[in-house]
Amino acid sequence: MKKVEDYVRSIPDFPEEGVIFRDITTVIQDAEGFQLAVNEMKALLDGVDFDIIAGAESRGFIFGSPLAYAMEKGFVLIRKKGKLPCETVSVEYDLEYGSAEIEIHKDSIQPGQKVVIVDDLMATGGTIEASIKLIESLGGVVVKVIFLMELAGLKGRKRLSGYDVASVITYE
Ligand code: PRP
Ligand code: ADE
Repeated sequence: MKKVEDYVRSIPDFPEEGVIFRDITTVIQDAEGFQLAVNEMKALLDGVDFDIIAGAESRGFIFGSPLAYAMEKGFVLIRKKGKLPCETVSVEYDLEYGSAEIEIHKDSIQPGQKVVIVDDLMATGGTIEASIKLIESLGGVVVKVIFLMELAGLKGRKRLSGYDVASVITYE
């Protein structure tokens, strides 16, 4: 029986020298791989009391949305700047390679709502740190952050210290 990590494809030196890119396309294009990934992420939420799931564009949508559906919760989009049509709050942040700006609709989280954040991968933790800022600026309470994969060497957990972080696969 294959494990979910068996479906992840690792590409050295993409998109730049020194980065090992952990590719999820080979996970989700396989029916069993996709099931395993979503089910194992769902297991990370066992016993967690939450109201809504938020995911960061674009790979956070791929895992956050089926999880929200399966758990009968709503799903909130955190998008790259310029894509959301109504009033937003935004924040700039740095990535393992490059920088970006993300935003969220002001009316997507209600004050006091308990939010789970979902993404495919934690590298530096910059995307999720920025996502937390957005959610907290709207009064949301981040109760858990879950990933399919984490790159432990980039110290994202340190950046997210104080938050409950869990992942299915850890790469050193
Ligand atoms: C990737 C990945 C995470 C983030 C991780 O997204 O999906 O969201 O980088 O890096 P960090 O922990 O250093 O912030 P990316 O911004 O490349 O966008 P994509 O999902 O659209 O490919
Ligand atoms: N996003 C940031 N770093 C990454 C990596 N090493 N593999 C896949 N996605 C990433």
